[in-house]
Amino acid sequence: MRPATKEPARQITFNHPTLAGEELKYLGEVLTGIHLSGNGEFTKRCQALLEELLPSGRALLTHSCTGALEMAAMLAGLGPGDEVIMPSFTFASTANAVVLRGARPVFVDIRPDTLNIDEGLLAQALTVRTKAISVVHYAGVGCEMDPILDFARDRNLLVMEDAAQALCAKYRGRSLGTFGQFAAISFHETKNIISGEGGALIVNDPSYFSRAEIIWEKGTNRSQFWRGEIDKYTWVDFGSSYLPSEVIAAFLLAQLEKSRELTAHRLQIWHRYREAFRSLETLGLLQIPHVPSHCEHNGHIFFVLAPTSVLREKWLKILWREGVYGVIHYVPLHSSPAGRKFCCVSGDMSVTDDIASRLIRLPLHLALDVIEQDRVIQVVTNLARGR
Ligand SMILES: Cc1ncc(COP(=O)(O)O)c(C=O)c1O
Repeated sequence: MRPATKEPARQITFNHPTLAGEELKYLGEVLTGIHLSGNGEFTKRCQALLEELLPSGRALLTHSCTGALEMAAMLAGLGPGDEVIMPSFTFASTANAVVLRGARPVFVDIRPDTLNIDEGLLAQALTVRTKAISVVHYAGVGCEMDPILDFARDRNLLVMEDAAQALCAKYRGRSLGTFGQFAAISFHETKNIISGEGGALIVNDPSYFSRAEIIWEKGTNRSQFWRGEIDKYTWVDFGSSYLPSEVIAAFLLAQLEKSRELTAHRLQIWHRYREAFRSLETLGLLQIPHVPSHCEHNGHIFFVLAPTSVLREKWLKILWREGVYGVIHYVPLHSSPAGRKFCCVSGDMSVTDDIASRLIRLPLHLALDVIEQDRVIQVVTNLARGR
């Protein structure tokens, strides 16, 4: 954590992208080189590092997690009439990727402890049209992958992991992003490891990989051509343009090389919040994240749950007035205009509705110093104690 060397800033932002060290050096190498487009040396080095972190899969860098989710939906062969079970407490892209294929997201409620999909509700959402389950590891805390994988295996369903927030986190000792046939990672500037915009598709089932490369390269077999396996490349399947340029990959490489240190730093800040708010939770004045003992999370989000939605709105106003930029998270997709149009709901969504209406994410980034964090803690403590 940065030492407390300066006066508290008047505004404590929710996010503040920070450099890991070698970004400018690597960017200089790209800008003075001869390869600016995608799939060059920096892309390959990033992919190799991702494959070390997620050893069961092959990685393809993408321009966003959204792009990786779209690729996964194409690889899954989703089409009109198909259904994909997923939580509604997620970002639009989890569902949008499915809708773009003409298929339908079916929302189920989340668990009140981890805020992840409630695996006990999969059976009620299953129909003859169900083709896949899309799980979201909220805040880098793993979904209950053992029962989810058992359920999927028994019914021949594909599993896609929206691991946008989950790099460098584990479930029962195994890295998130290695469980499903496909996983999608985000390097958006709000994530732990960043490149401004950016993402990666992880393909854990090798039988899908050659098609993934084709979809990635606009439906062509250009990757094979670059490897010298064919003498010219051509259009062989549908696909789109999902490659980031080498400029993005160079920035990302500097971050990925430091992924362990960046995660450790983030966890330190996360635990400082936890220690500060534990007693308030015991008193029933707010709730803080719950991480099951078999999950190693990555400190991506620290949130508090206000006792009621009315108090959440009041707390937010006071936080902002005090210059502390806490923010809400997802508007549940089942209540969004597009969700109502393109998706359907299985069962009761009361946990999702309740959690979404009471949650505040606190400032958490690597430029946050102890004075700033103490200020956040003090303002939230005063709110919870009703002062
Ligand atoms: C769960 C989830 N999935 C997907 C995305 C989209 O990521 P990206 O901005 O890299 O496309 C986000 C973005 O925050 C997210 O939280």
